[in-house]
Amino acid sequence: MRIILLGPPGAGKGTQAATLAREEGVAHISTGDILRQHVREGTPLGKAAREYMDKGLLVPDEIILGLVRDRLAQPDARRGFIFDGFPRTVVQADGLERLLEELQMPLEAVVNIVVPDTELVERAVGRRTCKECGEIYHLRTRPPQKEGVCDRCGGELVHRSDDNPETVRARLAEYHAKTAPLIEYYRSRGLLREVDGTQPVAAVSEAIRKVVGA
Ligand code: AP5
Repeated sequence: MRIILLGPPGAGKGTQAATLAREEGVAHISTGDILRQHVREGTPLGKAAREYMDKGLLVPDEIILGLVRDRLAQPDARRGFIFDGFPRTVVQADGLERLLEELQMPLEAVVNIVVPDTELVERAVGRRTCKECGEIYHLRTRPPQKEGVCDRCGGELVHRSDDNPETVRARLAEYHAKTAPLIEYYRSRGLLREVDGTQPVAAVSEAIRKVVGA
């Protein structure tokens, strides 16, 4: 499986990519997760990226393309990949096309998870994420069994610093200005598939499997 999950912040890309990657045995590549790890470790890249992330702005393309090149070189990516939150701009999509050509691993599909903006702020603000394994929860729609503790691994659940209403609105503005044009970009290449992301999580998973033929 070699696919991209496209969609606005809070659409459910991370939730769906984690399950699908586990089930299919392919790499789950989330540029947001890679950046957050750099921020936690206080690397120079993390310090630079944080300036953008805290404001809800996109991190510069050259930084992101470098991270993706390194990640695709890891052995698990040879079996396939699910991109989550990448590409976010036409420059990134062009860069990915070149990288995948070099690796002779063409994309199979780009799945756009469609959710109206009105639902997205609430989804992001209520999200909690496991610090250890990355499992994603929501205080209302998917609460953990024990408050603040991950059901899967017992890790601590945290609230992302960019999941406040003001920053989510800035992220949505970035999405509409810079990422939404990728819908037409991939449609014109015959790769675009769409699923209704407002359905329950399991129904969205089934819809994704159906449109990618998995
Ligand atoms: P990133 O981490 O990629 O965040 P995002 O794209 O804004 O997406 P989210 O993680 O917010 O949402 P998601 O679609 O994964 O939804 P989730 O499954 O968690 O990026 C963060 C920042 O890093 C960016 O702002 C930017 O600064 C930088 N960055 C990252 N990649 C970059 C790139 N390529 N270029 C430049 N900068 C980059 O679900 C959300 C919530 O909804 C959860 O609580 C979940 O439980 C719930 N939920 C999920 N599905 C459903 C459902 N079907 N029904 C009800 N609730 C649901």
